[in-house]
Amino acid sequence: MNALLTNYGSSNSSPAPLIMQSKQEFVATVEEERKEEGMFLTWEDLQVTVPNGRKGRKPILKGLTGYAQPGKLLAIMGPSGCGKSTLLDALAGRLGSNIKQTGKILINGLKQELAYGTSGYVTQDDAMLSCLTAGETLYYSAELQFPKSMSITEKKERADATLREMGLQDAINTRVGGWSCKGLSGGQKRRLSICIEILTHPRLLFLDEPTSGLDSAASFHVMTGIASLILKDGIQRTIVASIHQPSSQVFQLFHHLCLLSSGETVYFGPASHANQFFSSNGFPCPPLYNPSDHYLRIINKDFDQDVDEGITTEEATNILVSSYKSSEYRNHVQNEIAKITVNLIDL
Ligand SMILES: Nc1ncnc2c1ncn2[C@@H]1O[C@H](COP(=O)(O)OP(=O)(O)O)[C@@H](O)[C@H]1O
Ligand SMILES: [Mg+2]
Repeated sequence: MNALLTNYGSSNSSPAPLIMQSKQEFVATVEEERKEEGMFLTWEDLQVTVPNGRKGRKPILKGLTGYAQPGKLLAIMGPSGCGKSTLLDALAGRLGSNIKQTGKILINGLKQELAYGTSGYVTQDDAMLSCLTAGETLYYSAELQFPKSMSITEKKERADATLREMGLQDAINTRVGGWSCKGLSGGQKRRLSICIEILTHPRLLFLDEPTSGLDSAASFHVMTGIASLILKDGIQRTIVASIHQPSSQVFQLFHHLCLLSSGETVYFGPASHANQFFSSNGFPCPPLYNPSDHYLRIINKDFDQDVDEGITTEEATNILVSSYKSSEYRNHVQNEIAKITVNLIDL
């Protein structure tokens, strides 16, 4: 099919007149329109394996399907070792060379590499020089990340504005510090790491456990800062964050939840509907209980305990995994992916 009759347009605009376009032109138009809309990320049947000595390969992610969309915060949760970091690495195209990946990861409906500056990745460990102050760290980073054509004053202004966004203006002259000298607190370091990645205003942001090691108040500060980026300066951003054990306040900031156990999806859907999914499968969250504590207790198979009379965590997880596979939530995910990808690749 070389020429296409199209009236593609974003859902809130009136249909464009029908025009003859080549396939390349059509794809370019859709790409351009979607760039303005933001970044849609979809993954289907994502499988990741690692070498396992002489025994061949060990599966880490076992056929995950999901999506992340602009203006929404997707939280990836699950017990330690369930594959959260591996999923983030796969989505961001950062898997190690000995790791094999199959499945389809699409950006705005197309198979493409993440272009420089369009995405940011905040890793679990803060990699910063202990002898620099918070301000210096970000100024140097601005110097490296922004183009040469941008003036030094403008770079400094962008760095200062970013420090303010993350509430670090009072720590601007404090050293990062490390094991030998005390400097920024754990929460401030995490926020500085986030500043470095959001300096260029990427539309897609990956964060690996941005609150690890923080107390609940600091976690809430960091997560509200992250949630505020979803819609800033009129741009809708797509945020995917793995998070270990959020407080109930932090949990309320999530739009979508991807709950994993041993590399399998236990639940993918609106964070606010997870409770109903667990209840309908016989595991209601007890009153006055933090919902995320409840979900993680049910699906943590590391310590094979009873979650209910006679039901082990292993059995409970299996019930939830198989129930999710045939649930309306799973169908909804497939429908959303179909809408996002609009068969561009099949044309
Ligand atoms: N490169 C690797 N080689 C071997 N095993 C790995 C590798 N990367 C991850 N794993 C294993 O995969 C599982 C998931 O790891 P990870 O994604 O880091 O989990 P999480 O972030 O949820 O704690 C763990 O059991 C880990 O030991
Ligand atoms: Mg991890």
